[in-house]
Amino acid sequence: MFSGQGLKVAKRLSKIAPFRVMELLARANELASLGHDVIHLEVGEPDFDTPPPIVAAGVRAILEGKTKYTDARGTPELRQTISEFYQCSLGIDVPAERIFVTAGASGGLLMLSALLLDPGENLLMPDPGYPCNRHFLSSFNAEGILVPVDATQNYQLTPSLVEEYWTPATRGVLVASPSNPTGSILGQKVVRQLGEVVRDKDGIMIVDEIYQGLVYENEAIGSALVQVPEAIVINSFSKYFGMTGWRLGWVVVPEAIAMDLEKLAQNLFICPSSIAQEAALSAFDPESIATMEAQKAEFAVRRDYLVPALRELGFEIPLMPAGAFYVYAGLPDEAPDAEQFCHLLLENHFVAVTPGTDFGFHNADRSIRISYARNLSQLKEAVYRIGKLLG
Ligand SMILES: Cc1ncc(COP(=O)(O)O)c(C=O)c1O
Repeated sequence: MFSGQGLKVAKRLSKIAPFRVMELLARANELASLGHDVIHLEVGEPDFDTPPPIVAAGVRAILEGKTKYTDARGTPELRQTISEFYQCSLGIDVPAERIFVTAGASGGLLMLSALLLDPGENLLMPDPGYPCNRHFLSSFNAEGILVPVDATQNYQLTPSLVEEYWTPATRGVLVASPSNPTGSILGQKVVRQLGEVVRDKDGIMIVDEIYQGLVYENEAIGSALVQVPEAIVINSFSKYFGMTGWRLGWVVVPEAIAMDLEKLAQNLFICPSSIAQEAALSAFDPESIATMEAQKAEFAVRRDYLVPALRELGFEIPLMPAGAFYVYAGLPDEAPDAEQFCHLLLENHFVAVTPGTDFGFHNADRSIRISYARNLSQLKEAVYRIGKLLG
């Protein structure tokens, strides 16, 4: 008889922590199903629907039977469309041969971890940062080295931190701009300097640009590829394009490693979703862009309300988040630690926010991440309830 005693998981699983925000989301949904008026500020996805032209293209794709495997790298049409986006918005030449369409940025991060790191090697990444990154690396017995950063470093790696933390096992850096959870962006000058330090060490610079279109401080779209042409860039249709559930993203790699990445893409995924790829062909249409720009303007209004309102309650937010849709806030002194605070806020006041402990270790138990991917009246009600919890 099957006892289950022989069932054991690989040792690497001990290095992979749960993505707590997903657990929080499940509990928040449970409370909502019991009839509570839950405000979801834990979510990392826009509250807006996917723009209508993209939805219509997806439906058309299903009706027209575009439901078969595609090229492992993505359809030539979509890769060409993304290449044209780089040319038109940034004036840079990124040929379609260097572009791989992936199953979300997550699919890209997984493939890059498999592609670039041998067991025991590591990438430097900022703490706080997107938690799944180090777990992608752990899945291949590599490691993410978390480098503590705070407002004085704009919550980003700096050239001197890279020098300080680099070891013989380090292969490169993985940074995000705008960052999750802090919303900070890497200025062009810092990108260039980081690129120079990494180049001197013969390392790899990976830049996650998944929140690329969502920058409020400086209207121009930026990319590390402008300053560091050899950088590996990750992007996604999830956030700016409002397509989280479609599971579609892309990576840009130097030509020298494109064939190896193709091999991995064939084996690991066969190809990204054909339907999502057809839909995404409409993502750069003027009508879609107009919808997304209107949503971005709405995010800016929310941010401009939320940050001062939280500061008023005693939260420490040293820098105005420049992009994405998160505020990473230091808890007021009188508040309990982050996990306890989030627990009390959800269970007693039905507001879900994410504890800093989901994003690393540095000051994590005194910080929370609040997503403003909810409408202004929900944000105002949430601020009122947070105020009640703080007494
Ligand atoms: C910085 C960052 N990178 C990657 C991802 C993964 O996104 P997706 O797989 O939906 O493209 C997220 C999701 O929240 C993120 O915040």
